[in-house]
Amino acid sequence: MNFLTAKSCQLPAFWYPALSMPDAPPLQQQTPDTLMLFGFWYRAMASDALKRGQMRSTMLLEQPLVVGRDQHGKPFALRDACPHRGMPLSYGQFDGHNVECPYHGWKFDAHSGQCTLIPSLVADQIAGQKIKVDRIYAGSYPCEERDDFIWVFIPDPVPSSAGFTKAAPAHEPAPEVPKFSERYKLAYLTADLPCSVDHGIIGLMDPAHGPFVHQAWWWRSQHSIHEKQKNFEPIPYGFRMSAHTPSSNSAPYKLLRLYAKADSITTTIDFVLPNLRSEVIRAGKYWFSSLTTVTPITRNQCRIDVVAAWNLFHWIPLAPALLKFVFAKFVEQDRRTMEIQSEGLKHNPHLMLIDDADRPAKWYFGLKKAMLETKKSGGGFQHPLTGPVTLRWRS
Ligand code: FES
Ligand SMILES: [Fe+2]
Repeated sequence: MNFLTAKSCQLPAFWYPALSMPDAPPLQQQTPDTLMLFGFWYRAMASDALKRGQMRSTMLLEQPLVVGRDQHGKPFALRDACPHRGMPLSYGQFDGHNVECPYHGWKFDAHSGQCTLIPSLVADQIAGQKIKVDRIYAGSYPCEERDDFIWVFIPDPVPSSAGFTKAAPAHEPAPEVPKFSERYKLAYLTADLPCSVDHGIIGLMDPAHGPFVHQAWWWRSQHSIHEKQKNFEPIPYGFRMSAHTPSSNSAPYKLLRLYAKADSITTTIDFVLPNLRSEVIRAGKYWFSSLTTVTPITRNQCRIDVVAAWNLFHWIPLAPALLKFVFAKFVEQDRRTMEIQSEGLKHNPHLMLIDDADRPAKWYFGLKKAMLETKKSGGGFQHPLTGPVTLRWRS
């Protein structure tokens, strides 16, 4: 997928000796605490992967999780490790309210993680308050459902008093796909990528791979490569490719132009930490938007999830199916590319980022570095962009 859906690069003006994090170890050798940003919402799994009363184990940022859905359909997320002796709770039973550990049968409230029962205690041990059952907690995470996905907030690691800590609430709601009308359609795609979250994200925002990776007769060929120019501006914790009329060389835009007034089509693309790429296309009263995330699973494994919402194309039969086909093809091309790239990365090659095509990738590393510094020092956020910038490249 083309992060910056379009545009071009000049021939390299600068060659960077390493991936623009001068003090950091090579990209593939980063440790999880510099590679993955804690203190944010992440997509854990698609809503339809989880029925009422079910639980499933998963992993986010190398944290083992058990995600479930209570008897009312409300999702929850617990650390997949019993605070007693570490048994994965996902092997236990869930009655729709409480999760029961399969080892000694301790029970935990699914939403708060609070311990509700320790079966081995005899009556006077409970009465004598030798052990206060309700002071014990399984690790629990804020959990919300948005746009067909279950999101989990992964907090900054705290010096743990493990087993006795109630989860802190998230300081903001989970991100949402931008929407501009009451009625709309929603569809999603998901794919596992065998690379670190950084490679997943910079692959997503890389404008120069389009003509080579995303060739298809109905989209574009290598010969359609041409010079492009786009304006960018800083936004809080991210950057925006300013609203522009989309590139003329792709078939879907040509189609869209037929149905809406051509001069009214604009595209805006934002990237915001930790991993959110949103794109909004507006054509008069019609709109199409998407929120793509690249989620760290482990240090060398991530997952891309694309959720799209739209109120257009309803007059074209099978449009959603067609759209899903196009997106799926793009995502598969990216996935396959990253799979092959991971073979090369195994051997720790020297890497470089060039201007202007890799500038968004440099901004990403700049944003991330600024975020890590802010978390460490508690100081202000040093945004890598100080004002609007125009980038030029060929693609
Ligand atoms: S390990 Fe879970 S109850 Fe003992
Ligand atoms: Fe791509």
